[in-house]
Amino acid sequence: MIHISASLLAADYARLGEEMQRAEKAGVDSFHFDMMDGHYVPNLALAPDHLEALRPYSHLPFHAHLELDNPDDVLSRFTPLQADMIIVQWNTLKDPSQTFDAIRSQGLKVGLGLNPDDPLQDVIRFFQGLDLLLLLGVFPGFGGQSMQPGTLEKITSARRFIDQTNHRTTIAVDGGVKPENTTRLAQAGADILIMGTALFQSTDMAETIRSIRGSIAESPPR
Ligand code: DX5
Ligand code: ZN
Repeated sequence: MIHISASLLAADYARLGEEMQRAEKAGVDSFHFDMMDGHYVPNLALAPDHLEALRPYSHLPFHAHLELDNPDDVLSRFTPLQADMIIVQWNTLKDPSQTFDAIRSQGLKVGLGLNPDDPLQDVIRFFQGLDLLLLLGVFPGFGGQSMQPGTLEKITSARRFIDQTNHRTTIAVDGGVKPENTTRLAQAGADILIMGTALFQSTDMAETIRSIRGSIAESPPR
């Protein structure tokens, strides 16, 4: 079954804990926290302390997406209390293997995020140590944007490479994911759909999730 991760960027920030309970009840599988520094992206969002404070609200996994310039300087702020997985952005890494090792040595899973203009070819040699490959469908910074052209093709290529090489990396797509494109994204090979606006702004989140899962289940196998 497709994994749906709720991106809290689109939730009501005054009631994050309740928003998480609402999303869990509606059927999401994990939570996605965008952490922004106002430099890598022109926006600011969340800190590890927020994640720790939100832990009592759900037993689902927490994925921290570091949309900031200096991931190596802040990694030590994360332990399994704050997150289950750290996703770092490819174009912020000086020594990718070293960053992945540092994340793993803290007992956390490793995710790598690619911007729409980061070529897949450049990162293929790092798949070995990777739990998650996150393909951004938008340029990071804000929710509610439309998906960039080329995202589906990138998922297809990543899927083909992972299947051919028997890597266990899962593929996530983040940004611009909405009910109208989820079936195509899943068919192209996405394992995880990260959704903000389409979940939190929907009138009935549980129904939105049910209908996404239903359409994917009825679609022909890829
Ligand atoms: C973009 C973030 C995404 C964003 C997705 O910087 O990485 O996680 O919250 O938002 P939607 O689903 O609204 O495109
Ligand atoms: Zn994100």
